[in-house]
Amino acid sequence: MKILVLHGPNLNLLGRREPEVYGSFTLEEINASVQKLAAELGVQVEFFQSNHEGELVDRLQEAGESCAAVIFNPGAYTHYSLALRDAVAAIPVPVVEVHLSNIYAREEFRRHSVIAPAAAGQISGFGPDSYLLALRAAVNLAAKKEIEKLDAKD
Ligand code: DQA
Repeated sequence: MKILVLHGPNLNLLGRREPEVYGSFTLEEINASVQKLAAELGVQVEFFQSNHEGELVDRLQEAGESCAAVIFNPGAYTHYSLALRDAVAAIPVPVVEVHLSNIYAREEFRRHSVIAPAAAGQISGFGPDSYLLALRAAVNLAAKKEIEKLDAKD
């Protein structure tokens, strides 16, 4: 089972970017902890970060063909990208939306996600642990889907 971990704009700056909001860990450190849990759970993970909306759309579409689930932090695109929302809705695999910060406890413009209605669920506010919780959720969702597929064949 392969799971894509997709990071949106400015997340490449983690560690240096507003550490009082996002903490001091880097994206590489987050990826390493996700990789470690993935090994424990016996799943494969791949990572991709982009500051470009179209690249994120492309990667979601590819994951729809090749991955069992996606963990997605859309960054600021969360709040207004209908192209990303449509891509999440278009692919046949579950997408777990992730945020490091609690977007509901921040500025008004961050309290709305246009991605959430198309996602399987959302995890927000637990720092790097948001990604680990999302991985567990993604693995469970993907496993459930596999079982449903097998049942449909009987
Ligand atoms: C974020 C929250 C967004 O509002 C912000 O634009 C980000 C990061 C988070 O992980 O907390 O870039 O998605």
